[in-house]
Amino acid sequence: MDPYLRDVLDVCLRMLHVVAGIAWIGASFYFVRLDLALRAPKDPNDAAAGVAGEFWGVHGGGLYHSQKYRLAPAEMPEPLHWFKWEAYTTWLSGFALMVVLYYFDADVRLVDPSIAKLENWEAIVLSVGGLALGWLVYDGLCRTVGTRSQAALAVVGVFLIAVTAWAAGELFAARAAYLEVGAILGTIMVANVLLVIIPAHRKLVRAMEEKREPDPAPLLRAKERSVHNNYLTLPVLFTMLAGHFAFTFGADEAWLVLVLVAVLTAFIRVFFNLWHTGRRVWWIPAVTVVGVVALAFWLEPNEPATGSDPGPVPFGQIQSVIEQRCATCHSGASAPLGVRLETEADIRARVDDIGRQAVQTRAMPPGNATSMTDEERDLLAAWIAQQ
Ligand code: HEC
Repeated sequence: MDPYLRDVLDVCLRMLHVVAGIAWIGASFYFVRLDLALRAPKDPNDAAAGVAGEFWGVHGGGLYHSQKYRLAPAEMPEPLHWFKWEAYTTWLSGFALMVVLYYFDADVRLVDPSIAKLENWEAIVLSVGGLALGWLVYDGLCRTVGTRSQAALAVVGVFLIAVTAWAAGELFAARAAYLEVGAILGTIMVANVLLVIIPAHRKLVRAMEEKREPDPAPLLRAKERSVHNNYLTLPVLFTMLAGHFAFTFGADEAWLVLVLVAVLTAFIRVFFNLWHTGRRVWWIPAVTVVGVVALAFWLEPNEPATGSDPGPVPFGQIQSVIEQRCATCHSGASAPLGVRLETEADIRARVDDIGRQAVQTRAMPPGNATSMTDEERDLLAAWIAQQ
């Protein structure tokens, strides 16, 4: 794809994706909080009319009063607001971004021949297939293990995230592997909305229109899936942002890092969900902070070990490596993130960044697109150590 067209599509789709994601998750966090903070209605008339709980809030210059019905009010309210396009738009724009960035440029971003020698089309089929397979396995587990125990489902879920992260790391370029896991989890969340939650709401509304008592079973299932979405939110956000942090996706045990962060961030949701019910369980954030600090120590890149000491490295040698392996992309006005590696001054100004991206991790060149050799990385490491 033309690089300028790709940049324009990138910024437009990314804006849409982030804005829709904020609208979706913002509403979803709000309703989780509302639900957990509900108190029995003070007015006995409300209770008699079927109100299960009420919530008072002050926001944006006014007091708001929300009520949740045990099932439904006697009369169909007009207008009734639905919440679904935020989720659908987030998925559609996210998938479009994946097509533009990872499928069109599959050889650079999705495939890394040093990880798996895949043709572009094979990698794309595996990536799209992963999204569908993830949903089928998750939905199947909800209908079997999940009907017996949500705790057991959580344990199996963490195990499956581990397997998915490991498999993605064996198939795709490191950065794409994280994104694939995030896309699988995000697809599960949106499919929960499309295939379980919204159909349950439709049944509820239909029963009300036909003046029947609604069946509570689909509504309970919808509630369960909505809780799952709540716990998946932060792990998905991490996978979306981790692309900026090569020390995470580029780590030797990147799959384990992803699993640990997923568990820690889901744990933080537990803290906030308890907080909304009025409980303050401070050991949860304390344990999380200890976990994050431990992860940070574990992931600190070692000083790169050079195989043999090549002696003082002349700058000319480094410049020719960078020219061949980096400057094809990192030059001119369209240099990615404005990182230009053309002149000696450019290169010297970026010693740390170059070390982080091409030596301590193998984030650059992406998918090793320019076939950088290990000897060249060792040479860079030795030169950086001499700076
Ligand atoms: C095939 C094109 C390509 C090649 C070759 C390439 N890069 Fe990059 N580089 C990129 C892209 C694309 C980004 C932006 C990544 C992003 O979107 O966060 C990037 C980002 C970077 C960054 C900034 C990272 C950050 O998040 O701040 C550094 C530093 C970097 N590259 C160094 C290198 C070095 C050193 C080499 C050679 C060893 C190299 N790159 C080779 C495409 C390339």
